[in-house]
Amino acid sequence: MNAPVPIKPHEAVTPLAPLVSVQNMSVSYDGTRSGFWARPMPVKALDNISFDVFPGETLGLVGESGSGKSTTGRAILRRVGVTGGKILFKGQDITTVRGEELRKLRRHMQIVFQDPYASLNPRMKVLDIIAEPLIVHGLIRKSEEARDEIGEFLRVVGLPRDAQDRYPHAFSGGQRQRIGIARALALKPDFIVADEPVSALDVSVRAQVVNLLQDLQRDLGITLLFIAHDLSVVRHISHRVAILYSGRLVELADRDALYETPLHPYTEALLSAVPVPDPKTQKARKRLIYRGDIVDAGHWPSGCHLHGRCPYATEKCSLEAPPLVEKRPGHWAACWHR
Ligand SMILES: Nc1ncnc2c1ncn2[C@@H]1O[C@H](COP(=O)(O)OP(=O)(O)O)[C@@H](O)[C@H]1O
Ligand SMILES: [Mg+2]
Repeated sequence: MNAPVPIKPHEAVTPLAPLVSVQNMSVSYDGTRSGFWARPMPVKALDNISFDVFPGETLGLVGESGSGKSTTGRAILRRVGVTGGKILFKGQDITTVRGEELRKLRRHMQIVFQDPYASLNPRMKVLDIIAEPLIVHGLIRKSEEARDEIGEFLRVVGLPRDAQDRYPHAFSGGQRQRIGIARALALKPDFIVADEPVSALDVSVRAQVVNLLQDLQRDLGITLLFIAHDLSVVRHISHRVAILYSGRLVELADRDALYETPLHPYTEALLSAVPVPDPKTQKARKRLIYRGDIVDAGHWPSGCHLHGRCPYATEKCSLEAPPLVEKRPGHWAACWHR
C-alpha cells in the first residue's frame, strides 16, 4: 500500500512559522485503582494529535464533551504533562521546561475559563483580580500601581473604569467573562486559550462576548485557540477549525472549506446539528444523528474511534485507525472512506 503521508499537519507549507506547534501529542491521566494493591490504570485523553496555530489566527477547536478539548488547551499551557510528543512555542520546545523558564513562558500564554462564576475569586475586588498576574510576574508590587492601566483594560473589554472597585457578585455572567478576558489580557500575551468561554453564558449575551474576543484578537494581533462544543459558536471567529473526537483529531481545515465541504463523517454529523437561517435549506438538509454516545477515555475501541457509530464504517475501520492526511490542500481528515 502507498504511504499517503508525505507531510504532517504540523509541517504544512506556509510562509509563516507557527506560534504554537503540537506534534504527536498524547496525554493520559492517572485513573482509578481496581483494588488497594493495584496500580491506577492510566486514562488516555489524547492520542497522538498534531496541529499548528499560526501567529494572528484564531483556531477553533470543536468536539463533544469528553473529547479532550480542555486537555489540549491545558497541555499547551503546561498545566498538564504530556505522555508523548512535543509542544513548540515560537519554535522552542517547551514540553519539559520548568522553574523560572516556565514562569517566563507563562507570561506569553493565558487562559479564559469556561465558568466566569467559578474562575473569579468572590472575595477579591476586580482591581485585584486583574492585577494578580501582574504581581505574580513581578511587574508591579501592589494592585494600586496598575489602577490606570487596569481601567484601560476594563474599557477595552466594554466595562466602566470604576468596575475595578467592585466585587464579582456585582456583575452578570457576561460582564464577569469580560473581567476574565481583561485578566487574560493584563500580561499582554501572544497566545490565549479560550476554553468554552461562552458555554456558561445566557444565549442572549454569547454573541457579544464572541464578538469582543474577535475584535481583541484582530486589534491586538493575539493568537487564539477558541474551544467550543458545537460548530455554530466558532464559525464567525475562526480562521481555521479543528475537530476532535475521542482524543483524536479527525479534521482540520480552513473555516469555509470545513463548513462548506466537510470531509469527515463526524464533522458532517456535527454540522447537521447547526441551525441554518434559511428554513428551506434547513428542511432540505439531512439531519445526521449518530447512534450511541462518545466513547469514554479509557474505553477506546480499536481502529477508528468513531467506527461503532459511523454509518460508513467497514471492517477496516474497526481494525486500523485512519491517519490524519491532507486530502485537499490545507484540508486534513482522518477517514478511510473520504
Ligand atoms: N484530571 C483528570 N483525571 C482523570 N481523567 C480526566 C481528568 N481531566 C479529564 N479527564 C478525562 O479526559 C477526557 C478528556 O477530558 P477533557 O479534556 O476535559 O474533555 P473536554 O474538555 O473536551 O470536555 C475525559 O474522558 C475526562 O473524563
Ligand atoms: Mg472542557
